[in-house]
Amino acid sequence: MKPVKQLTRDEAAAEIDRLTNEIQVADEEYYAKDKPRLTDAEYDALRRRLILIERAFPKLKQPDSPSDSVGASPSATFAKIEHAQAMLSLDNAFEDADVAEFVERVRRFLKLGANDALVLTAEPKIDGLSLSLRYEAGALKSAATRGDGRIGEDVTANALTIEDIPSRLSGAPDVLEVRGEVYMSPADFAGLNDRLRAAGDEAAANPRNAAAGSLRQIDPAVTAMRPLKFFAHGWGETSEPLGETQFDAMARLDALGFQVNPRMTRCGSAVDLLSVYRRIESDRAGLDYDIDGVVYKVDRLDYQSRLGFVSRSPRWAIAHKFPAERATTVLEAIDIQVGRTGALTPVARLTPVTVGGVVVSNATLHNEDEIARKDIRVGDAVIVQRAGDVIPQIVEVLLDKRLKGAKRYKFPQNCPSCDSAAVREENPATGKIDVVRRCTGGLVCPAQAVERLKHFVSRRAMDIDGLGEKQVAALFEERIIREPADIFTLAARQAAGDIDLYTYKKDKKGAFVVKDGERQATNRKSVENLFASIEAARAPSLERFIFALGMRHVGETTARLFAQHFQTFDAFASMAKGAHDRESDAFKEFLSIDGVGELVAAGAINFFAEPHNRAAVDRLLAAVSPQAAKAPIGGSSAIAGKTVVFTGTLETMTRDEAKAQAIALGAKVAGSVSARTDILVAGAGAGSKMKKAEELGVRVVTEEAWREMTSAA
Ligand code: IVH
Repeated sequence: MKPVKQLTRDEAAAEIDRLTNEIQVADEEYYAKDKPRLTDAEYDALRRRLILIERAFPKLKQPDSPSDSVGASPSATFAKIEHAQAMLSLDNAFEDADVAEFVERVRRFLKLGANDALVLTAEPKIDGLSLSLRYEAGALKSAATRGDGRIGEDVTANALTIEDIPSRLSGAPDVLEVRGEVYMSPADFAGLNDRLRAAGDEAAANPRNAAAGSLRQIDPAVTAMRPLKFFAHGWGETSEPLGETQFDAMARLDALGFQVNPRMTRCGSAVDLLSVYRRIESDRAGLDYDIDGVVYKVDRLDYQSRLGFVSRSPRWAIAHKFPAERATTVLEAIDIQVGRTGALTPVARLTPVTVGGVVVSNATLHNEDEIARKDIRVGDAVIVQRAGDVIPQIVEVLLDKRLKGAKRYKFPQNCPSCDSAAVREENPATGKIDVVRRCTGGLVCPAQAVERLKHFVSRRAMDIDGLGEKQVAALFEERIIREPADIFTLAARQAAGDIDLYTYKKDKKGAFVVKDGERQATNRKSVENLFASIEAARAPSLERFIFALGMRHVGETTARLFAQHFQTFDAFASMAKGAHDRESDAFKEFLSIDGVGELVAAGAINFFAEPHNRAAVDRLLAAVSPQAAKAPIGGSSAIAGKTVVFTGTLETMTRDEAKAQAIALGAKVAGSVSARTDILVAGAGAGSKMKKAEELGVRVVTEEAWREMTSAA
């Protein structure tokens, strides 16, 4: 069959006719309950091809196309679907002892005697996205993402493009909700990323993100081109039971045409569960799906319903998570990066090694003391650890493999960029020596200047599209952009013939590459686009603008506090300029802002105390007009006035969205946990912040709980 992309318009029209006819005939046969001529898989293939062709040739789509009979047409956002039964999450076990405890808890709850059998199932926990498929009278009615567990997004049209998801079932209960995981195999993921990169698009970080991004495409034709798969692992509402046990019910789903995991095993004890866990863990790397643990479920469904749920997870199941993954490799070099504030950060360059399916060639070494404490030396064999989306770390040096003559690492005392002295300051508040060594070069340090510019244009700051890190570095090097104001004169300088950006070609990753004198139409286009996005950045919100200036200790949250408090840039700047004296009213006004301490206030005040900075800001303000801030709204919600911190990976929304929502409801969002924190929202992989919150007795809630709080608010 000809790929849809290669079809001519006439061929497409002819195929749409043919497919429409065949589907209509098949529908009649099916609904007349005669023996259908087509298998379900053949029928699905027809529908999929029709959808694809219609997306490629939207004008040819017939108003009564059978592709509309199921599923929603593409829209800018996904419609909401309320789950008939909530989609819950699982409690986690990390240690063997947690598993034994789980089994004991279940036995106790059910009041089982020592001789009563308790059968449990063990199966891989797929690292994908959960999806709920609702069938009525054998036809797929809807496919919904988990969303907040109660209400998900309608991705029916997209789900229909997935081969593992049948659009019709024979012999199924009248109402059947099948639940499972959409995922991408690591091999398909690698192929997709190659294609994305070749097309100049951004590659996904891991198969799970790729699957999520693919499923949530507005255009189902795009989803159809993505190699998505689906494993069923349970069910929601059913009009009749699927079986008496989990195991039998899954066999029924298998018979109905769903992929169920072949590794599901019945076990009689915690010891059995653990041996299945070990087996799955050791086979993990060879599976063609990513997994992050093993799920144990009580097999008997009557037991399951007696056990019921605790808040958001069933008492009858638990997820036994795998520990963070590790691998051994060699530390080839230690590079020192200079940050925006002059911080020297050591980065480990490693012989590339695969850790849990991801090739790792860099790892963080944190800081000078950490290297000394672990006595990490160049040439050492080291163990790297990668946990979820966290930057890989070196957890151990294999001392017995150390080469003779390996020298203790000497942390540089001078900036690798400008050679200025690099020092560790004493924190005036605590009297402690800072763990971070900083370049004292300030304005003369080119590395700091470049980093400040990168920060200025970055997505969360001024968000100037077309001016990425590579471009900034190239244009800085060429002395075309030396400070933020220079960005806003680019177009005028180009028009005047002072510079010629058209001679810069972008490479695949978008970086400018000098191409001597050879001009290309495509350069012209991307330069014009860059000018357009610079124009669009001339009226930033006040908080973005303050954040973009990159003052010490003034992150997004503080920038927002300043914006809310001062409302205009003028008010903010003049207060900062008048506050060099700690006793001044201006300084006290800074400290009166909830969430602003001495360090942060000093960050802003010191910035304006520097004549160079004042002059640079003045030049910038000639080109840019930050918008006055609006007073916060939503003062009456339940979380109004609360200080909230987010940590870990959120599943149902981006961090940005979560923060925006919190602020819209009148909450304050902080970046770190302190005694002033009211709520810590902990997503997947939450680490040190969670620990800190627990130590301080700060209320920790899950993402689901947070969603509930905010939807009630
Ligand atoms: S059973 C009541 N089995 O993990 C929830 N879930 O962390 C019962 N998951 O939302 C879920 N593989 O999306 C189950 N074999 C498996 C699973 C699995 C992945 C997901 C599921 C759930 C999440 C909980």
